[in-house]
Amino acid sequence: MCGIIGYTGKKAASKIIIEGLRNLEYRGYDSAGIAALENGQLKRLRAVGKVKELETSLLKNKLSSLCAVGHTRWATHGKPSENNSHPHTDCGGNIAVVHNGIIENYLSLKEDLKKKGHKFKSETDTEVIAHLLEENLKTVKNLTAEQKLFEAVRKTAKQISGAFAVGIIWTGAPGIIVGIRKQSPLVAGIGDGESFLASDVTAFLKHTNKVVFLEDNEIVVARQNNISFYDENGKEKKPLITQIKWNTAQAEKGGYKHFMLKEIYEQPDAVADTLRFGVEDMPSVFGMSGKQIKNIKKIQIIACGTAYHAGLCSKYFIEEYSGIPVEVDYASEYKYRFVPSTPGTLAIAVSQSGETADTIAAMKKAKEAGFKTLAICNVLGSTLTRMADHTFFTRCGLEISVASTKAFTSQLAALYGLAVFLGFQRGVLNSAQFKKYSTEFFALPRLLENTIKNTAEAVKKTAKKIYKEKTFVFLGRSANYPIALEGALKLKEISYLHAEGFPGGEIKHGPIAIIDSHVPVFVLAPKDNLFEKMLSACEETAARGAKVIAVTDKKGAEILGKKVFALVKIPEANSFLTAILNAVVVQFFAYYIADLRKCEIDQPRNLAKSVTVE
Ligand code: F6R
Repeated sequence: MCGIIGYTGKKAASKIIIEGLRNLEYRGYDSAGIAALENGQLKRLRAVGKVKELETSLLKNKLSSLCAVGHTRWATHGKPSENNSHPHTDCGGNIAVVHNGIIENYLSLKEDLKKKGHKFKSETDTEVIAHLLEENLKTVKNLTAEQKLFEAVRKTAKQISGAFAVGIIWTGAPGIIVGIRKQSPLVAGIGDGESFLASDVTAFLKHTNKVVFLEDNEIVVARQNNISFYDENGKEKKPLITQIKWNTAQAEKGGYKHFMLKEIYEQPDAVADTLRFGVEDMPSVFGMSGKQIKNIKKIQIIACGTAYHAGLCSKYFIEEYSGIPVEVDYASEYKYRFVPSTPGTLAIAVSQSGETADTIAAMKKAKEAGFKTLAICNVLGSTLTRMADHTFFTRCGLEISVASTKAFTSQLAALYGLAVFLGFQRGVLNSAQFKKYSTEFFALPRLLENTIKNTAEAVKKTAKKIYKEKTFVFLGRSANYPIALEGALKLKEISYLHAEGFPGGEIKHGPIAIIDSHVPVFVLAPKDNLFEKMLSACEETAARGAKVIAVTDKKGAEILGKKVFALVKIPEANSFLTAILNAVVVQFFAYYIADLRKCEIDQPRNLAKSVTVE
């Protein structure tokens, strides 16, 4: 997730770009850059670090342009460095490109372009766009400068695959910015004698609240005095102009009341971005040959908190799909316990930040034991990714809320992909199974979208009936057991209530003693092979007076319907994937209960986003 912005108008573009980038910093802050058209020339400034570094550089290197594009980066392809910072340019230095998203076919495009003599200066996927545009501009003739740029952009958009929101300026068409989007967000702002493009409205809301949210494959041409929108065939479209009524604080949160809620809603996109590095890319992410994969004897997962729950959940599907025994440890425990030096162990550290001291120490220990290491991490260049032999990068963007949500589901998606890949590589899954699981897996963003759409209101309504209680219990089995733990953790973190998660079958071995009519019990019970067992847990707790809230699918609801206090329905999916969908539901429960209790949701007491001390 990166942030892009473009401005063309009558004011000093650099000031507007810097202000806008500051508001987009939540999307990433590894480096920032600006490119402007000045006296027919392209001028570019880039700086590693936060936007204020770029601002400092601008004080020394003034730009007086009225048209510019800017970018704040969250590194995906290539480390945070000045060379990898946007805007990227073509060989001639006439085209500047800012991009948010991932160009999936950039390697093959880069090879073709290199054969045509293009020299690349960065490790990014984005740079291919600038070079493709340079090539395509050569082929468009007998048109005005603006039309040439427009046609070259259209042609380029057809050549690239993946997700992108792009802003482009070219010395041949001064004062014009062309933007295009596919899957990544892009919004245009219509001002008085000025036009804007950005990843979100916060970037320019101070200047105009008249905006157009671009649709997939739509192209926008922003000029000083007007702005036009086109479909992928180049046909002009009538824009749907929206008047934004948010104040700046609301706008930062995309109109949501809290970052946590915004991040819950971002999960389909976060998971889609994570999956973009698909199963076919696994060998390179994983960095192990087929033979080495076959030789893995054990997987050791180390992580803390929510990331630990992702690891624990993955144990169920990694073992079933790949046949490899999986051990999951809290990183803080692992580093102080005796670890037998099992040859053929692959240690996987899971961490959003990559800076958690306990996880780093556990990783160090795994390395010292001679294990191969893999990090599943959201921050490229973080300590953990530098230590690990290889990294599977979850691409969920910056997570601002202290309580982790989208990082969790992205970790689960990454681990699930890994399980399917390992299973196939080791011959445990045959081609048909591999195809089936991969197809189901790639439908996950859509399933998450449906889950959000169909559960938010039901959860909110139920939360109103139970938020005054003081103790809550979450139950699940198999991959849904760690989700029960995660539901309890989320609720504790943001509402300061007492909540516990148990395996459904364990309740009768002790915890049932705490159940009474003031203890709501959340039962995660998809209609899978363990449904009947979860039904018993519903009955056992309901018999002690508990208000049972069942989270289940359509078929489960038909059976549970009248037996429970409340029902929340998730879409039908393979049993392991229901765990990822249920994660969203328990996040919603924690959120709405905490909100009704008027808690400080985004910054709960006593907690920090990244725990860098032991
Ligand atoms: C819970 C939460 C924490 C983190 C844990 C590990 O909402 O955010 O439990 O999951 O501190 O942090 P990372 O993933 O950064 O290593």
